[in-house]
Amino acid sequence: MPKLIVTTREGETTEVDVESGLTVMEAIRDNGFDELLALCGGCCSCATCHVHVDAQYKDKLPAMSEDEDDLLDSSDHRDDTSRLSCQIPFTDELDGLKVTIAQED
Ligand code: FES
Repeated sequence: MPKLIVTTREGETTEVDVESGLTVMEAIRDNGFDELLALCGGCCSCATCHVHVDAQYKDKLPAMSEDEDDLLDSSDHRDDTSRLSCQIPFTDELDGLKVTIAQED
């Protein structure tokens, strides 16, 4: 099973196995990381699933939609590595992806 490496806001890193068909947000949430609120359930309307993604994987990620871009703009913690984790389907290609849960706005 492909692995996702999650770092919490406190800097604690955990490796999780991800079933196929999940988004990065679902993989984080389903593994008990309560600090990722994902309030809208993945329909790209809340920005509480904001993560920073390992720059090495940037080219493997799906392109950012205008909605995602606009939502990320509402975060004070946005940077070049920011993505909404509900907008990233976790494929085998992303095995080993490292994400850090963004600070709360
Ligand atoms: S869960 Fe709401 S935008 Fe991702």
